[in-house]
Amino acid sequence: MQRVKIGVLGAGRGAGLARTMQQAPSAELAAVCDADEARLANAVAATGVGRTYTTYEAMLDSDVDAILVASPMPLHVEHSVAALRAGKHVLSEVTAATSLEQCWELLGAVRDTGRKYMMAENYCYMRPWSVVLGMVRAGLFGEVYYGEADQIQEFKGGFPRPDTGYNWRTAELAMRQGHQYITHNLGPLYWAFGERVASVACHGSGQRHLPWAKADSTCVVLCETVSGKLLRIRLDFFSDRPNNYMYLGLQGTRAAYEAPRAGNEDHKVYVEGRTPRGAWQSLWDYEEHLPDAWRRMPADQVNDNHDGGAALMIEDFARCILDDTKPAVDVVDALNMTAPGLLSELSRQRGGAPVDVPEFRREG
Ligand SMILES: NC(=O)c1ccc[n+]([C@@H]2O[C@H](COP(=O)([O-])OP(=O)(O)OC[C@H]3O[C@@H](n4cnc5c(N)ncnc54)[C@H](O)[C@@H]3O)[C@@H](O)[C@H]2O)c1
Repeated sequence: MQRVKIGVLGAGRGAGLARTMQQAPSAELAAVCDADEARLANAVAATGVGRTYTTYEAMLDSDVDAILVASPMPLHVEHSVAALRAGKHVLSEVTAATSLEQCWELLGAVRDTGRKYMMAENYCYMRPWSVVLGMVRAGLFGEVYYGEADQIQEFKGGFPRPDTGYNWRTAELAMRQGHQYITHNLGPLYWAFGERVASVACHGSGQRHLPWAKADSTCVVLCETVSGKLLRIRLDFFSDRPNNYMYLGLQGTRAAYEAPRAGNEDHKVYVEGRTPRGAWQSLWDYEEHLPDAWRRMPADQVNDNHDGGAALMIEDFARCILDDTKPAVDVVDALNMTAPGLLSELSRQRGGAPVDVPEFRREG
């Protein structure tokens, strides 16, 4: 197999990733599937893909090697498990699952089938964060012990009222407490810390904007990792204020990093022994720590947005199949990034009491 033939399920977000896939040398966009024919037509226009399906079963019966699952969040496990059991590898959109039962079902299916499963957490691949990760791996941060992330993204208009029909965003994000979309924030931190969250505690502000919504306008999730390190994550889809949904911060024994809070700020680091005490310097002074894969990206495709590294993510997925290596975000990583968000809901319902997060193991 020279390139991995990928079939895309879902032509909303999936259509965008199908286009990005064409920049990943080891991946081949083989087909797109959506029950909505108008969306399919748009995907064909945007990508030139030659094959389309209106039923998922037909795409699973075809010769594609892998499925990109970009269906609504609560269907990711159903669609991933069906693909795995049909002998396909899976790249699943975030989050991996919407309940703990689904987490265990997904883990079982990956173990049973031995197929590759990767979660498509694009925030792990952002260019500035890739420099930070390179610095962590080179030892410049010493031991990392605190991380933070904010998903502040005013989205009130994107949640139709629940009495107007089913909408997954309303059902999963507006009608549930805690941080159900946590992988964008926890994913990058998990890569920096290299260990899972053992317990979560969540407090909320109450809902101040949409009278029918159950989610808090703002909630904060505190995570403790297995070795006692601390993460603080804020979710806010409702407040009237400028967005800041790519904010990340990291503190180690020898260095600190903060992403911009506003558009006119730079990414900044303090590195013990290199930056004058009490000052910041630009993260880009450390650009040598950017992975080689980023350097090979054509200049016109390089950007620092949340999807800037999506082609590298898809390439990683294709390479793990071709080289038979561990996926960059395998099923255990995906569940470690997802389950703390699911359990933050329980903590919020218990008045912020800490809730233990189960350990997901690669071997049975
Ligand atoms: N990583 C990111 O930055 C990012 C951004 C947006 C969305 N997403 C994720 O992508 C997923 C999809 O988001 P969206 O906005 O495109 O949702 P959407 O509801 O707009 O689109 C989902 C599509 O899947 C199709 N579909 C569902 N089940 C199907 C089936 N069995 N057969 C054929 N077609 C089927 C629907 O017809 C629909 O067109 C979500 O889980 C979301 O979390 C991720």
